[in-house]
Amino acid sequence: MSESMQGEYFVIKAKENGVHVIGLTRGQDTRFHHTEKLDKGEVMIAQFTEHTSAIKVRGKASIMTKHGTIETDA
Ligand code: TRP
Repeated sequence: MSESMQGEYFVIKAKENGVHVIGLTRGQDTRFHHTEKLDKGEVMIAQFTEHTSAIKVRGKASIMTKHGTIETDA
């Protein structure tokens, strides 16, 4: 993904303390590369990038993407 081909943005809003947003690597080898911890009310705005092809969210949160908003059941 080149500089001019930036990935989609997504927004995560934590609904409790200790929500984890885990970034998974792009390419052959899929592994965790970063874990960001959010407390209640904290918002993370991020993109899918050359290094990040997927994310995993652990805990109660709202996840907003261009496809809509998803509430985790956790
Ligand atoms: N260094 C990471 C990257 O450029 C930063 C990052 C972007 C990230 N989006 C993320 C980390 C989503 C965790 C989750 O890919």
